Amino acid sequence: MSADTEGDATDRYRVGSLEEVEAQPQVVDVRGEKYLVCVAGDGLYAYRNVCPHQGGPVAEGRVDTEDGRVVCPWHGWEFDLDGGANCFDTDVGARLPQAECVVEGGDVYLRL
Ligand code: FES
Repeated sequence: MSADTEGDATDRYRVGSLEEVEAQPQVVDVRGEKYLVCVAGDGLYAYRNVCPHQGGPVAEGRVDTEDGRVVCPWHGWEFDLDGGANCFDTDVGARLPQAECVVEGGDVYLRL
């Protein structure tokens, strides 16, 4: 999925309706960079599609909003969708790079 890459004065990028994001995690491309946007539990989250291990495309792995986890397809590192903490090896402490997202008027926007 491609976000509205026009942006506005506040650098907001529409991801889709909240209903769409709730129904399925979205991967959007903004200015040549991909982001995973999803609803997990009670939260709305956005992360850059870059695994902190070796830069793998984490959003192309298994995204399980029921369990609140995403698993990187390259080496299986697992991250908590609520904040991006590394669940694979908590001693490493690497987190997914989080981005800001908001709901306005029933639509989800990335703020970059
Ligand atoms: S690059 Fe993601 S687990 Fe290695």
